[in-house]
Amino acid sequence: MLQRLKVIVTRRLPEAVETKLETMFGAEINRSGKALPREALAAALHRCDVLACSVGDRLDTELIGQAGERLRLIANFGVGVDHIDLDAARAKGIAVTNTPDVLTDDTADIVMALILMALRRLGEGERLLRAGGWGGWKPTDFLGHGLRGKKLGIPGMGRIGQAAARRAAAFGMEIHYHNRNRLPREVETAIGARWWAELDAMLPVVDVLSVNAPYGPHTHHLIDARRLALMRRDAFLINTARGGLVDQEALIAALESGALAGAGLDVYPKEPEVDTRLIALPNVVLLPHLGSATVETRVAMGEKVVANIEAFAEGRELPDRVA
Ligand code: 8YV
Repeated sequence: MLQRLKVIVTRRLPEAVETKLETMFGAEINRSGKALPREALAAALHRCDVLACSVGDRLDTELIGQAGERLRLIANFGVGVDHIDLDAARAKGIAVTNTPDVLTDDTADIVMALILMALRRLGEGERLLRAGGWGGWKPTDFLGHGLRGKKLGIPGMGRIGQAAARRAAAFGMEIHYHNRNRLPREVETAIGARWWAELDAMLPVVDVLSVNAPYGPHTHHLIDARRLALMRRDAFLINTARGGLVDQEALIAALESGALAGAGLDVYPKEPEVDTRLIALPNVVLLPHLGSATVETRVAMGEKVVANIEAFAEGRELPDRVA
């Protein structure tokens, strides 16, 4: 057991992962089922060498600034690290790792699920049936929109964007993307994807926009009121990345006024808060941040956390270092 290190885990993880963390590092795990309150998080940052955290743990400049001298690694359970101030961590010589790749396919599946739910009105149909409101089949009931031939626009063509593009192409969608770096031509050809140097130029063209960029100061409100106004009135917006990528007030206004046809969301700016105006809109599909929520993926994410801590304990290069 590599018990020289004090490892604190802020949330319950799949049992097999918890067992490994305990056996290998004697980890202390918060088994309360709730996120640690800020004071407890601050105390943990003083008591440990390694903190294994996740999306609900806001490790901002202040908390990291006050961390104890012994803290040397923040091993995040998740690929997005926007809840961690990476500059503050770097300044204190604290390494940060994440869990890329293993959640790509599951998250891309949820992009497709939200596209299908929104365009085919599946949420609406299910709600009506459960409420006992289904009066039987009618030729004109629940007419949605088919995916074949529709144009999908993807700002942020990283791992998840590309995985979503491959799936959408198999559904007959036409793929458009905006990314700082253009993909290699052979990848573009394989997916049949068209690159747009300017996001603004792509927006009026697409039927569905799936935001898949990483979130940070540079992408805060990437889709704001001005950009929403560039989209077509019959277009749909999908967000499985981070709530802050989209200006929620502007999105609600566009949905309420009919300037946008609908939305499918798995993420929100202030989770777990979900704006009641979104809940009131029938043309919006709302999921509780479950993009990576499969047994297989959550275990694989945990394995990555373990591998990063193990590498750290053995003084090896960290496999998934982001800072
Ligand atoms: C995770 C995610 O469930 O990995 C991410 O960035 O958004 C989710 O898939 C969550 O972040 C775990 O911390």
